[in-house]
Amino acid sequence: MSKFYITTPIYYVNAKPHIGHAYTTLAADVLARFHAQIGDKSFFLTGTDEHGLNIARAAEKAGKPNQEFCNEISQKFKKTWQNLNIKYSDFIRTTSARHKKGAQAFLFKLKENNVLYEGEYKGLYCTGCESFITEKELNKDGKCPAHLRAPEKVKEKNSFFKLKKFLPKVKSAIEFDKLKIEPAHIKSEVLGLFKQGLDDFSVSREKVKWGISLPWDKSQTIYVWVEALTNYITARGYPNFSHNAWPADIHLMAKDIIKFHCVYWPAMLMAANLDLPNKIFAHGFFTINGQKMSKSIGNIIDPNELIDKFGVDGARYLILSQFPFGQDGDIQESKFIEKYNADLANGIGNLAARVSKMIENANLGATARAVSADDKFKKEFNNLMKSLKLYEALQLIFQKIKQLDVYINEKRVWEMKDENTQKKVFTKLVNDIIMIGERISPFLPETGGKILKIFRAEKIKKREALFPRK
Ligand code: MSP
Repeated sequence: MSKFYITTPIYYVNAKPHIGHAYTTLAADVLARFHAQIGDKSFFLTGTDEHGLNIARAAEKAGKPNQEFCNEISQKFKKTWQNLNIKYSDFIRTTSARHKKGAQAFLFKLKENNVLYEGEYKGLYCTGCESFITEKELNKDGKCPAHLRAPEKVKEKNSFFKLKKFLPKVKSAIEFDKLKIEPAHIKSEVLGLFKQGLDDFSVSREKVKWGISLPWDKSQTIYVWVEALTNYITARGYPNFSHNAWPADIHLMAKDIIKFHCVYWPAMLMAANLDLPNKIFAHGFFTINGQKMSKSIGNIIDPNELIDKFGVDGARYLILSQFPFGQDGDIQESKFIEKYNADLANGIGNLAARVSKMIENANLGATARAVSADDKFKKEFNNLMKSLKLYEALQLIFQKIKQLDVYINEKRVWEMKDENTQKKVFTKLVNDIIMIGERISPFLPETGGKILKIFRAEKIKKREALFPRK
């Protein structure tokens, strides 16, 4: 049994969760469930990122004390994940005592290893990115291209991390896949960052009060990104890891935060004598109806609304099945109903209803089954899942559903009279549907469970519709 430790980014608590956060967290949930299913020891970490200027300002705007504001929004993330039937193993909050202790221990280690130095930073800072930004990174209006905000001028004393010292080692780890970065276009993008030139960065801030102080200098707080990255180890008990708690097998995220994860984080880990994660996978970024999701446009989709409309598994499916995992895409809200009806109501739901009804009507008693597992299908499916091709894995399942529909129609199964033929045909159908139920379970846990309950029963009977038509 191998271990499988997967993480999502920890999300900022300046606003409630939206479908973008749900996308990554659901994908991690599916992968963790799949790995548990194939016998790995899955551990799935998510959480919330609660310090920094941006959050302090959001709390102020809401007229609430910082911690109270963080508690409320962090709770909304937890609740949303629960509503989506996302089963994380642990949820780390950066305002928790265990994180504080671990983050300080990590910074202390960096100091001890002599990779920090005092310096002065003078330049620009984007609070949206919670990151320093250079003049040449700004758009033509002088704003941060990701947040369309004007950066703030900053001048302060900071502790700097000797990033440059580690760059050659990080680069070669990536080039030689000691640290795997996927998909391939993200790996090239990251390698491109090394060519542009990367500078030492500060690991502390003088004027940001909402944070964790440097253990040796209370006038400085740990830079929020550095602190946030350590969540992946503080959640596992750093500086005292339990057995097999580190390294992570996959850090999952979108491509917006790859510089922090693929360059800064590995360098920091090397500097602290810790192993690198096995893989960093950055999926695409999606727009809604062709536009970036934003409060001002008013196109933010709350996953809870999708659950109200389509049920938990309906929402899970609609969020995950839009476009290949790894690529950018656009989500068109108007297509949700169409896709729900085509794939869920008329696809998997109809197949289950149709076959269970035919078997019930035929009244053959117990149907012999579990004779021929489709090993080729399972192998193909497992390979897709292991390489994070979630979209293709779903497609494989839905292709199988279509094939079974065609098989039933071509054989005119409902007209069959001969008991032996009936038994043979039903056995194949039941076997295949059980296989579908098992494979779909990580994606649609409730539906998978219902399918298995119906088709593994002594006496197969038609039950209520899995997905009522909309
Ligand atoms: N707090 C940092 C991460 C620290 S991790 C050590 C942060 N938080 S965030 O709330 O902005 O979350 C960013 C992540 O949310 C993305 O990397 C991605 O996982 C997810 N997404 C947010 N919007 C998304 C889309 N529109 N499309 C795809 N993923 C999206 O950055």
